[in-house]
Parts: sequence; structure tokens; C-alpha cells
Amino acid sequence: MDKVYLDYAATTPVRPEVVEAMRPYWGEKFGNASSLHSFGKEARIAVEEAREKIASILNAETEEIVFTGSITESDNLAILGLTGRFPEKVGQLITSEIEHHAVLDTFITLEKRGYRVSYLPVNQEGQVNLKALEEALRTKTLLVSVMSANNEVGTIEPVEEIGEIINAFNKGKKDWRVYFHTDAAAFFEYLPLDVKRLKVDLLSLGPHKFGGPKGVGVLYVKKDVSLSPLYFGGHQEFGLCPGTEAVPLIVGAAKAFELASKEKEENKNRVTVLRDRLIKGVLEKIPGVFLTGDAERRLPGLASFSFRDVEGEAVLLRLDKEGIAASSGSACTSGELKPSHVLLAMGIPPEEAHGSVRFSLGRETTKEDIDYVLEKLPRVIEDIRKMTPKL
Ligand SMILES: Cc1ncc(COP(=O)(O)O)c(C=O)c1O
Repeated sequence: MDKVYLDYAATTPVRPEVVEAMRPYWGEKFGNASSLHSFGKEARIAVEEAREKIASILNAETEEIVFTGSITESDNLAILGLTGRFPEKVGQLITSEIEHHAVLDTFITLEKRGYRVSYLPVNQEGQVNLKALEEALRTKTLLVSVMSANNEVGTIEPVEEIGEIINAFNKGKKDWRVYFHTDAAAFFEYLPLDVKRLKVDLLSLGPHKFGGPKGVGVLYVKKDVSLSPLYFGGHQEFGLCPGTEAVPLIVGAAKAFELASKEKEENKNRVTVLRDRLIKGVLEKIPGVFLTGDAERRLPGLASFSFRDVEGEAVLLRLDKEGIAASSGSACTSGELKPSHVLLAMGIPPEEAHGSVRFSLGRETTKEDIDYVLEKLPRVIEDIRKMTPKL
């Protein structure tokens, strides 16, 4: 058996069609998109065509698409760009307890700078509490940022409802309004995404999560939303991301968006069947394990578990020896293994959160891959449990 890659939520292989689309822009079409000569014009056309393609896929206007360097940069630009633009209007900022660190740590930084930040709680399935949002909105708020789907446990968040709540709250207000940002990085590949339907002002994405290149991100910025740049220099990307555009990566991003969007439904159905086979198999074959996240409203490609009496990292290392790549929710910070903030927010006790393992499936995942995991995993867990001293 070749290696089995089940960490698509971390990143995906670049699709051959994407490599092909990018190829000329590394070599013969190498121009700087800001240059006035024919080399520059050729690059400019490629960037603007990519922008147009992505805008149409997201149901946005062309000038609402900003290319950044990563999803992290898109998140930072959305949050710091808005608070930087309207510092006097920040009564409070609202986010959730289960955001990716690209969002969470940005809010923590703002909190350290003196802003008031409310962190919305989630239920046991990882769904953001909408009542808490409605209550929090009573205090003057500039921004709400809640992810579209959680990348660790796969729970799909009620972003449409959040958009409705904010929209209703904003009605009739003249001198200030609440803005809505969502990090949709984990969401786009298999689920329909329409910025107008979601009623968002700002939305972050990155093509390396669905067959595109790393090193480029996308931020949707609604037409009437004004942001401050985070750094300064040229006029590129409407002055929001100054610096020479990464033309090949931008072209590759657009191709990845196009392919993923065309194949969404088909890939979703295929991957859901495999995910459910994995979940059923793990729960049947292994004692002392539970599924984390929402059983129904979950990302098609994501199965996350908590195994009792094991460390997630030990499981990952053993799986890697068997040729299986997965990931865990824990983060190793300054030599200390901390359980995932997402699992803790969901009320999972730390000792159980330590045993978390995430399998994320993708376009290339096969039934044989899943069956191979189901063959190897029970033994891996059993061996580690035997070696782990009981307290
Ligand atoms: C939901 C979400 N947001 C942000 C990021 C950060 O992405 P990047 O490291 O590519 O900037 C990730 C990556 O795992 C993610 O899953």
C-alpha cells in the first residue's frame, strides 16, 4: 500500500491542471503586472481575469476580490484593517471561542491593545450560540467574525443565520453599523458559497485547501467596506496588499476555484460516503472513542475523534509509521502539550481532548485508503493503550 494522505484540511496537492495553468507565468510570461509594456500588460490581464473568475464563482463584484499572501493574511487584513479604519467606533468586537488561530490570536492581540472582545460560546457539537450573539450585540459593536465551518471538528456554523441577525440589527442605524467577517477556508471546497446570500462584508479563503497553490489568499471585501492597509508601499490590490502581485499563484488560484466549483456536488457526494464509512468503521471497531463535532452538520471530508487513554500525537506517530498521514487537534506550545481550544470550548474534558485525531479526506481519497486505516487503526490504539500507564 502506498502512503495514505488523510490531512487534506491542512493542505492539498496542487492539481495538474493548476500547475499547467501557472506554468507560463513562471517563465515566458514573467512580467510585473504594474509595468506599462507588453510583458506587464500580459501579467495584468492574467491577474484581472483571475479576479473576475473568482468573483463570479462567489457571486461578488470583480473589484470586491483582493489577493493576499495567505488565509492568515486575509483574516488579519479583515480584522485589523477594519478596526484600524474605524478605531473610534469599536465599542466591542465579537468572535467565537473556536476560531482558527489566524482569527483568534488577532482578536487576542486587539484585546491586549485595549479593545473589548466578546468570545461567543459553542455547544457540545461546536455550534456557535446565536442567543449569545444577540445578547452581545446590545453593546456597540464594530465587527463580528465567526468561521463558516470549523477546521478541527468539521462543524458547519450557522453563518446564514448570523448574517440575518446582524442585518436585522443594522436596520435603521445611520451613524454606525456592525460588520460581518467569516473565515470560509474550510468550507468552500464542497459546499455552496454565495457572499450575497451569506450577507457577509468580509470573507477569507485560500486555494491551497482545494488543489491550488500555497502563498496566495483571497479576501472578499464588500464594495462599501473600507479597510486600512496593514503595510504600505505600492498601489497593488487597491492599496490593501501592496507589493508585486504573485501572478503565477493568482492564476493558479483562479484555476483551483474554477475546478472545485465545477466539481463541488460530485466531490461532496463521493467524499461523504467515504467519510461515513470511516466514522462507522472507527466507532464499531474501536472501544472508548467518540466522534467530535456535529454528526449531521459537518464538513463532507472531515472525521474527527477523541480516543480515551491515548495521546493524539502518539497515535499520529504510529499511524505515520504505517504510512497514514492524519493530524491532531493539540498544539505543542513551548514544550507543553495543550489540548485544542476548540475541544475545550465544546466542553470536552482536557484528558479526553488530548486523545483527538482528525482525518480529513479529499479528491484523491479512495475506499481502499479508508479500509487500510480501518485495518491499522484499531491495533495502533490498542498498542498505545497497553503502553500508557493508568492513573
Ligand atoms: C479555517 C482556517 N483559517 C485559516 C487557516 C490558515 O491558513 P494559512 O496557514 O494557509 O494562512 C487555516 C489553515 O489551516 C484554516 O483551516
